[in-house]
Amino acid sequence: MIWYPYAQMKTLDPPIKLSRAEGVHLYTEDGLDLIDSVSSWWSVIHGYNHPEMNAAISGQLEKFAHVMLGGITHEPVQRLSAKLEEWLPGDLNYCFFSDSGSVAVEVALKMALQFNTNRGSERDTVLALEHAYHGDTFKAMEVGDDEDYHFAFGSSNEKKKGVIHIPTELPALEKAFADCGERLTCFIVEPLLQGAGGHEDVRCVIPPKSPSAL
Ligand SMILES: Cc1ncc(COP(=O)(O)O)c(C=O)c1O
Repeated sequence: MIWYPYAQMKTLDPPIKLSRAEGVHLYTEDGLDLIDSVSSWWSVIHGYNHPEMNAAISGQLEKFAHVMLGGITHEPVQRLSAKLEEWLPGDLNYCFFSDSGSVAVEVALKMALQFNTNRGSERDTVLALEHAYHGDTFKAMEVGDDEDYHFAFGSSNEKKKGVIHIPTELPALEKAFADCGERLTCFIVEPLLQGAGGHEDVRCVIPPKSPSAL
């Protein structure tokens, strides 16, 4: 039995059964050609069955599929890290690899908290935006503010004591820094727009460095 995500098992429509995928197309066993306009929730942004990516993946599989980075390194991870470093702004030169968006959020929050703990600071609060979505692991749910996804796990402010949610507006941001800037460990923002919350105006809060960043 497969438990499908974001669906009520009792009322679930039978899922579409695929046989192959190419570019933006998903082909079903019974001959339908569908266009996947969400790229498998944004994780296949270069399209399915991309020849260059397939070749890179198979080439790497011939050597090894995965090794831990605990005490070990290798050329592909060093190359990827160097490439990301070129794109990242300012002195954001360190890459910590994790396996999903939610875990990346957990890691980033842990780093921010530990940075402050190491400095002996009392900072204990995360600043976040109303209607934000940061993933489905527990800390990610706490910094998120999306009832639809997380109501069953206690989304009331009572249960989110270490997080302050503010509206997506510059005055609210300035007020939060003025009122409780000394308590903040970090400010977490979705990149470019608030997807699940449907707010585009995040761009007003953090202007991109250059038009190409969009
Ligand atoms: C902004 C944002 N953060 C975190 C996540 C969680 O990522 P994942 O589903 O890979 O855990 C998502 C997923 O849609 C997201 O849109």
